[in-house]
Parts: sequence; structure tokens; C-alpha cells
Amino acid sequence: QATTTVDISKIQKGQRITVMWQGKPVWVVRRTDEMLETLEDPKVVRQLKDPESSASEQPEFAANDYRSRKPEWLVMIAICTHLGCIPSYHPESGGNFWSGTWKGGFFCPCHGSGYDFAGRVMEGSPAPLNMAVPYYEFLSDSEIRIG
Ligand code: FES
Repeated sequence: QATTTVDISKIQKGQRITVMWQGKPVWVVRRTDEMLETLEDPKVVRQLKDPESSASEQPEFAANDYRSRKPEWLVMIAICTHLGCIPSYHPESGGNFWSGTWKGGFFCPCHGSGYDFAGRVMEGSPAPLNMAVPYYEFLSDSEIRIG
């Protein structure tokens, strides 16, 4: 169907769910304050290929540091911009998935691309672009319509 409506009322802070929209997986992530802080951390921002998301992979309303309508909520197409694998979600900071000062986010196991909690790609990743944000609207505090 052209649009997908998602009930977000039961999503806990830090939790990510996956829904299907137009045959594509889309993530809805309820970001914690800690995750949001990493998006403005100069150590992280310095390592991003396109921190301002100047290549347009999001609607106008998401042209901000959070790449979303509301900072807490990330809605993003779950497809790596390299060759289309589905990255994994790493709500914890660091780990062995990415070098340097990666604070967590998304990691594509196919060829090792790292993304932050706004889907912005890290320098050194084979992926060329930040992950895409679809058009969506809040129907209420507990419901999002994608598409
Ligand atoms: Fe994700 Fe290649 S498909 S890094």
C-alpha cells in the first residue's frame, strides 16, 4: 500500500521496530537522550562524510541534526546506501564494529559501513550517502503514517 500507519505508543526509549512500507523495511527508533547527545558530539560529527546531509536523502522537514520531525523519533529506510544490505542496530556505544570514537548507531555487516543514530554515514565506510528518511507525518502522539 502507498502508506503505512505505525502505532508507536508501546515503543520504549532506545527501542527500534521494523515495519514494511512499499516493500521496504523502515525503522522507527525511539532515541534516548544519550543517543541524541552523540549526534552533536564534535568527535562524532568530525567523522561523518556528510554531517549536514547536504546530499538530499531526507524530506525538507528532516533537514536538521536529528534528521526527523521530533528529535526523539527516527524514521528511516533500513537499507544501506552501499549495495542495499540491512544494517544492524547498535544502541550501545563503541564495540568492535567501528573504529575510532563511534558511539553506536547502525552497522552494515556486508562491507562494514557505520552510521550514527541519525543514519549519517561515517568516513571510511564504503557507503556513499546517509541513509534515506521517507516522508512521514505524526497523526497523533502515538501514531505515525509513513508515505
Ligand atoms: Fe552495506 Fe556494502 S551493502 S556496506
